Amino acid sequence: MRTVICPGSFDPVTLGHVDIIKRAANTFDKVIVAVFVNKAKTPCFTIEERMHLLNKALDGIENVEVVACEGLLADYARERNATAVVKGLRAVSDFEYEFQMALTNKMLNPELETIFFTSRAENMYLSSSIVKNVASFGGNIRDFVPECIHDEIRNRLCGGGNKNES
Ligand code: PNS
Repeated sequence: MRTVICPGSFDPVTLGHVDIIKRAANTFDKVIVAVFVNKAKTPCFTIEERMHLLNKALDGIENVEVVACEGLLADYARERNATAVVKGLRAVSDFEYEFQMALTNKMLNPELETIFFTSRAENMYLSSSIVKNVASFGGNIRDFVPECIHDEIRNRLCGGGNKNES
């Protein structure tokens, strides 16, 4: 049984995250989506909100489990017998940060591999920060987040209606 972990802040989950998680679920037996408290960032959504949005966006995918995590990813992977961390790699700008995290995790847990799935072209520049930024100006985020959670994310970020949308 091959278990992998898709870790992240998911603040909030985007279509890019969902694409990577679905592809991981098609490739491995079990995918644990681990929502981490990232001490370097001040999240907009609470852990509970982020998990709720992920669970809704991933509803129906049998081999995916969404969990909240604190502490080190390398330790959690050991605890869950996960063989690899799966992450999406977007533009070149991701590379250095992702490489640094992969090497750190390898030092902390030598049995843990990091596997990168290349992002789809349409998600190349998509991030949770972009979603928050566009929504904060009342912009249209329909192409950025799953349809089933669009209204919840928009209402939460815009605090109501959106004049720019048809
Ligand atoms: O979506 P993000 O914010 O880029 O995800 C970063 C995340 C949560 C994967 C990373 O910060 C992480 O692994 N945090 C857990 C703490 C840890 O293991 N740190 C050491 C490796 S950098």
